[in-house]
Parts: sequence; C-alpha cells; structure tokens
Amino acid sequence: MTRRFITFEGIDGAGKSTHIAPLAERLRVRGEVVVCTREPGGTPLAEALRELLLHEPMDGVAETLLVFAARRDHIERVIAPALERGETVLCDRFSDATFAYQGAGRGQDERMLRALETWVHDGLQPDLTLWFDAEPALAASRRAAARAADRFEAEDLAFFERVRAGYLARMREAPERIVRIDSSRAKSEVQRQIEAALAALEACRR
Ligand code: TYD
Repeated sequence: MTRRFITFEGIDGAGKSTHIAPLAERLRVRGEVVVCTREPGGTPLAEALRELLLHEPMDGVAETLLVFAARRDHIERVIAPALERGETVLCDRFSDATFAYQGAGRGQDERMLRALETWVHDGLQPDLTLWFDAEPALAASRRAAARAADRFEAEDLAFFERVRAGYLARMREAPERIVRIDSSRAKSEVQRQIEAALAALEACRR
C-alpha cells in the first residue's frame, strides 16, 4: 500500500480543483486506493462549518478557530483512518491555507496559528503539497467566469496578493514538502508538473 497524504493549495481560481479528480483516476488505474476530500469540509460537521465560514460574517479569530475545528474532525474521522489503512489521501486545501488566508490574508497572529496547528494535527503533515500558483488577476478572471463569489472570493486583489505571499513564505519554510506548480500554463503542462512532483516523492521514498 502507498499511504500518502497529498494536499492541493493556491488562491481561489488558481485551478487546483480541476486537477484532483484526474490525478485520483490515474492513481486508481495504478491500483491505489484513493480518498478525495476537501477543507474546510470532508465530514458532516466540517461541511456544516464550511457553510458558516463561506457565508456568515465573523472576525478573524472566530474564523481561524472554526477552520481548525473543522480540520480536527476531518483528521480524526477521515484522513488519519484512511492513512492507517494504507490509502492515498488527496485533500483540496489543508493547513497551509490557514497560514495563507487567515495568517497572511487576514493578519492573524502566526503564533496562534502555529500553536493550533501543533495541537490539532498531533504530528500529522502532508507528504507532498502541490501549490498551484497564479497571478491574482488571472485567478480572479478564472473565478469570475466560473461562479458567484463567497466571503473569501469577494476579497480584493490586494488580499490575494497577501495570500499568495503567504503560500510563498510557507514554501520557503518547507521546500522539501511544498512544490510550486505554475498554474498559468496550459492544462497538459500543469499535469506534467504534477506528475514530476509525484515522481520526485516516489524517488525519495525508495
Ligand atoms: P475552496 O477550495 O476555494 O472551495 P471552492 O473551490 O469550492 O470555492 O475553499 C473555500 C475557501 O476556504 C477558500 O476561499 C479559502 C478558504 N479557506 C481558508 O480561508 N482557510 C483554510 O484553512 C481553508 C482550508 C480554506
């Protein structure tokens, strides 16, 4: 069994979500058992919290606590059991999003985020994080074509510049885990970058 925890990150509209299902399919064809999930969400409780997070006005501290509450339930009920069974977990966003959005975007105290991360994760970290990076203006135009904005998507370009800088800072802290994917490129080229990152993870494990 492969037992891998892979997360997908990036600003809204960067294009990560379109690549998760095809990657899951490619891994299943190779005989892997793959769980696809997302944050905030992935369990009934966490999906209920997601609704509040996306639509209910609240301050940054409440937002941070709800994100981590949802994450704890998700880890306990879905992610950790799947990894214990030796499966591959593909998760659309995880804690790097909290550092980028609540930390860099909203200005929440990084010490609080680090303390919550340690407490909530209980040692769990992704094996690989694919950071889909695109210019905020490009991401905004992709979003506008696709859907109505939620509380995060309604933020301005300056907010997404800060979030993007937050992801960059996270990558610099953990360059062995976080791989930047240039998602301004054509879909086939993005897929090639994803496969290269996976191959590098496999090579490390051998
Ligand atoms: P997203 O993956 O963008 O959902 P969708 O593609 O369906 O719109 O996630 C929803 C939002 O949640 C996104 O705007 C970022 C935000 N978010 C945080 O602010 N902090 C977090 O820790 C997580 C996981 C998400």
